[in-house]
Amino acid sequence: MRVLIVGGGGREHALAWKIKQSPRVRELYCAPGNAGIARLAQCIPIAADDLEQLVAFARDHQIDLTVVGPEAPLAAGIVDRFQAEGLAIFGPTKAAAQLEASKVFAKQLMAKYQIPTAESRTFTTATEACAYIREKGAPIVVKADGLAAGKGVVVATTVAQAEAAVQRILVDQEFGASGHRLVIEEYLRGEEVTLLAFTDGTTIIPMVAAQDHKAAYDHDAGPNTGGMGAYSPVPLLTPELQQQIEAEILRPTIDGLRQEGIVYQGVLYVGLMITASGPKVLEYNVRFGDPECQVILPRLQSDLIPIIQAINGQKLAKQSITWHDNHTVCVVMASGGYPGAYTNGKIITGLEQVEAMADVYVFHAGTTAQGEDLVTAGGRVLAVTAWGKTRQDALDKAYKAVQAIHFDGAHYRTDIGRRGTRLS
Ligand code: AMP
Ligand code: GLY
Repeated sequence: MRVLIVGGGGREHALAWKIKQSPRVRELYCAPGNAGIARLAQCIPIAADDLEQLVAFARDHQIDLTVVGPEAPLAAGIVDRFQAEGLAIFGPTKAAAQLEASKVFAKQLMAKYQIPTAESRTFTTATEACAYIREKGAPIVVKADGLAAGKGVVVATTVAQAEAAVQRILVDQEFGASGHRLVIEEYLRGEEVTLLAFTDGTTIIPMVAAQDHKAAYDHDAGPNTGGMGAYSPVPLLTPELQQQIEAEILRPTIDGLRQEGIVYQGVLYVGLMITASGPKVLEYNVRFGDPECQVILPRLQSDLIPIIQAINGQKLAKQSITWHDNHTVCVVMASGGYPGAYTNGKIITGLEQVEAMADVYVFHAGTTAQGEDLVTAGGRVLAVTAWGKTRQDALDKAYKAVQAIHFDGAHYRTDIGRRGTRLS
């Protein structure tokens, strides 16, 4: 088969690494890819959201399957576009991708199908939004309706902070059209866990759980990022809790969408808060998480390609999926300044040393080749991933590798996975 992966971050490197292992795959392409992906696939200089060029490439190069990493092309309708051309592609349609692309859509679906989530209201004017905030008091959460690369959510600890968020989203239009509407919701207390599932719109097969670390600094301090690290499995997610999430959240989401005329095919990501009154949905994503993907795929024992084909053929019920019984950890090395402003082009060294280490793989998130050098090219630069018999074993290996890697201003959290240890 000829396979094309769309995207160019750590998640797509993990997808390329896994898909490359499939005996069914003869040629692998990635658009646009990065310097790490280039070692596994032929990188094509087409942006992940350039739908027309991607369609043309897939047609001209007789691509048998396209796998989409990021949310933006899914929300823009890449799947509908490919399907209209008779091209096989893995991911939800534009209608299904609203689950991530519009928080208002997600909230309405959850309300209609009684899926547990924070109580919320939608606003289009600042006056009404602020009046509601003053009525409810802080802490309170303000969310831009549309896609905002993880930056459109403000967990406000004071009324003034929440009002300032309303000003930035609705009035100053910091997120453009994504902020024409906003959702204000109840602040939930508890522990967060991410559960992803494969689904063909009828059958749902959950993956192993993961926990992301969204805050920039140790002890969950600082601003939210795309994700600074992850680990799997998550001790908090007991089999009983998983069953409850499947019955109360995954099943009604997929069935509810089908009743709305939407057959959801692809990966469904549910960000959950485990509260004193049970699991509640924080957000849906319509794709693999980044960096959750980097700790989940190395645990997947089965070939990913037949799973994707079963989903696309709506035969997932016949598919068996097996997982390794190990622990994985991913530590993200980011550019100094991220998630704020940072400078690209810093030379990265030490990767050869890490290649000699057992049970470690460095997924590239934002890198590029510059002559003989490998240089930084993004906020998140490397996703250093390791596996072992225990979480501590995997952590030791990952941090040993991190210590061997250098670039100017490199920043990483030193407490990835510690929360899992505390909770176990
Ligand atoms: P989201 O992108 O909606 O998952 O929000 C990003 C992060 O904000 C989540 O991972 C949580 O840490 C936090 N968050 C979002 N919604 C809530 C909520 N209702 N209560 C408490 N924290 C929240
Ligand atoms: N790690 C969170 C996300 O992929 O959105």
